[in-house]
Amino acid sequence: MKDFNTLDDFKLKNKTVLLRVDFNMPLDRETFDILDNTRIERALPTIKELIENNAKTVIIAHQGRQGSWDFISLEKHAKTLEKLIEKDVKFVDDIFGEKAKNAIKNLQNSEVLLLDNVRRFDGETEKKSAEEHAQSVLVQNLYPLADLFVNDAFAAAHRPQCSLIGFIEVLPSCAGRLMEKELTTLSEIVENPAKPSVFLFGGAKFSDVIVTIERLLENKTADKIILTGLPANAFLKAEGFNLGKKTEESLAEEGSPENYEEIKKILLKFKNNIILPNDFAQQENTDRNEIDVTDLPTEYNLFDIGEKSIKNFKEIISDAKTVFLSGPCGVFENPVFMKGTKEIFTYVANSNAFSIVGGGHTVAAVEQLGLDDKISHISTGGGSLEKFMMGEKLPVVEALKKAKNKTF
Ligand code: 3PG
Ligand code: MG
Repeated sequence: MKDFNTLDDFKLKNKTVLLRVDFNMPLDRETFDILDNTRIERALPTIKELIENNAKTVIIAHQGRQGSWDFISLEKHAKTLEKLIEKDVKFVDDIFGEKAKNAIKNLQNSEVLLLDNVRRFDGETEKKSAEEHAQSVLVQNLYPLADLFVNDAFAAAHRPQCSLIGFIEVLPSCAGRLMEKELTTLSEIVENPAKPSVFLFGGAKFSDVIVTIERLLENKTADKIILTGLPANAFLKAEGFNLGKKTEESLAEEGSPENYEEIKKILLKFKNNIILPNDFAQQENTDRNEIDVTDLPTEYNLFDIGEKSIKNFKEIISDAKTVFLSGPCGVFENPVFMKGTKEIFTYVANSNAFSIVGGGHTVAAVEQLGLDDKISHISTGGGSLEKFMMGEKLPVVEALKKAKNKTF
């Protein structure tokens, strides 16, 4: 029994449905073209189900943030959706004004309408409770026109924003199919992961993952945590290694002295659960050469994990029943330094473990390596996924749970 409503709990036939999705897409800086359709594709099961039920689907979404370069209208998103569902998608450059309301009123059964970027509305991101958001002009103008609110925006589930939680107060509400799949799959991993569970963190940032690592070990969600990329460098530095000028510079761009104090504390408590590389591949001119951690410092950049680490990590993963991948093992965009990411990710994909991948760069690496069909669950979440894995309550999920007990 789920603790939130799904599309199965409602009659959809001929209903007008407000559907909140996450169409926050990676864009080309010059042309503003959408670079990757994944997030729209992942919302298709819900959209198609609504169409098949002859519902009138009104989609609400955001792109970028006010003031950011990628804060644009959703016209291109409508065109992309239209291609993917092979069906007309109406678009209005309005959110809750007369234009938008008329477009909703004129919608016929099985038609789809996309409203413009909901973050054009200042109140969208105001810090307010769900009850307060429900009183906003956005919710008050739109909700009387609809029968049901569906939230399928798992990637934005950590944002307590107006269109994400406000409607849940005033309309019968449920999770869409993507939200349902993300929550069901990920809850199992957080609450009851098949053991042993191994989490791998890599990529080019580390300050954000320190608390995540600590929580995962404290909550016993992770039995072992393997570190690569900048997180590995930061933990080695905290252990007292001098990694050389180049790596120290990359670390200094992001980290603070408090970060290292925090890492030292975690290492004291969880030394046996955290696995660090014992060698790296460094860039000498354009060549790849391997260096043992004990031979550091080096004057070169450390751009990948080395052979010995790859072998060691595979051994640890070979026992795992659950593996979570977050961040590539090195600079995988460069073919010379793709090896660690390729070998480890391929090994995980081919293993019998339940594998989960999340975050833009990690998903991109998995797709580039052609492994997407072999990963058990590819999450659309970045920030929301991280918070969820840490056991934090997500505002959208809490609102959906509350909605289950509401009657209208
Ligand atoms: C995301 O892409 O992280 C979500 O769409 C939320 O967007 P935000 O980080 O700008 O709030
Ligand atoms: Mg974000």
